[in-house]
Amino acid sequence: MKKSIRDIEVKGKKVLLRVDFNVPIKNGAISDDLRIAAAIPTIEALIAKGAKLALISHRGRPDGEKKEEFSMRVCKESVEKYLKKSIRFVSDVIGKEVHDLLESMKNGDVILLENVRFYKEEESKDDEIRLNFAKKLLEPFDLVVSDAFGTCHRKNASTYDVGLVKEMFAGLLVEKELYYLGEALNFPKHPFLAIIGGSKTSDKLKILKGLLPKVDKLLIGGAMAYTFYRSLGFQTGKSFVEEDMLIYCKELLNQYREKIILPPDSLVSKGFDFKTMQAVGDLSMRDNEKMSPNEMGLDIGKKSVKVFSEAIMEAKTILWNGPMGIFEYEEAVGTLLLAKIIAEATEKGAITVIGGGDSVAAIRQGGYAAQVSHVSTGGGASLEFLSGKDLPGLSVLVEQ
Ligand code: 3PG
Repeated sequence: MKKSIRDIEVKGKKVLLRVDFNVPIKNGAISDDLRIAAAIPTIEALIAKGAKLALISHRGRPDGEKKEEFSMRVCKESVEKYLKKSIRFVSDVIGKEVHDLLESMKNGDVILLENVRFYKEEESKDDEIRLNFAKKLLEPFDLVVSDAFGTCHRKNASTYDVGLVKEMFAGLLVEKELYYLGEALNFPKHPFLAIIGGSKTSDKLKILKGLLPKVDKLLIGGAMAYTFYRSLGFQTGKSFVEEDMLIYCKELLNQYREKIILPPDSLVSKGFDFKTMQAVGDLSMRDNEKMSPNEMGLDIGKKSVKVFSEAIMEAKTILWNGPMGIFEYEEAVGTLLLAKIIAEATEKGAITVIGGGDSVAAIRQGGYAAQVSHVSTGGGASLEFLSGKDLPGLSVLVEQ
């Protein structure tokens, strides 16, 4: 348990709030502001408590250079829209301008600092360089708060070292992520169901190993399923298979055959053109036992949707990470159907956690984000957290 902003007095204090505003940009505008929206409760709470607040984040990978296309300025309007008040943008993260502005601020005022990755010290591998930069960042501040869950797997000056310099408290988003990805899944209501998808078993092996002892059932979808099927000796045609993972899949199946449910059928075609995001040739349903050598699986089939849906509707706690197949074009509906059923299970009382990355994209594409218990803002961070890693940005937060 970490101490959060609920536990501290911030009235009149200068607070540095590390957020993760690493939002995607298309044609110069934010195309998805989930991460900004997710940080608003913390910003509002700190305003209400009377802090003088500076928001700091990275965006993209400018590699220690000041590059205008990675400026944080693009986020200002979105923050103002949510807060319904204007904020000032400062084109640096350290130095006189930041100091002077903080001196002139009233309680409840907010400023947005520039991209912290414009300084190479932020991501330096040298502990001393990062620590000195963290000291500079914190010079004008009384305390530091982290709400940057999406970046807490990075050992950066503004995510980690600042917590060594001054006491660092969790924001409400970090608190919520820790509750849903941590407590709710470590002490789940049973039946506890995990749905793990995506293309690479190698990316998910740690999660699988961590979850299998805890869950009642684990559904596997996406191209990962074909690696599992191949490990059982099935013909998987031209489907994506990771040969070096076969041994691990077999081991997991031997140990947890009762718990692991593989999709009984697939939507197949002769190939896939990633440029057009289209199947090559006709699409058809095929039982996974009967896939032919010139076919590849692109999505779970109708029978799988039925079997998976039944398991979802029985569960009291559900974790979903990774899509069931291609979901970018309209014939491949498996992932979106599951998103809908997970939303229905939530309505029925299940705790449902969407663990980052493409499953978040799918749940949002289907319009179900507000109907599940929690949509994680972490991609890599959620994956590492769920794999049981100790994340640097969380390890330095003050304990309860
Ligand atoms: C993310 O989007 O996963 C985080 O903001 C971290 O960004 P990074 O992968 O560039 O460190």
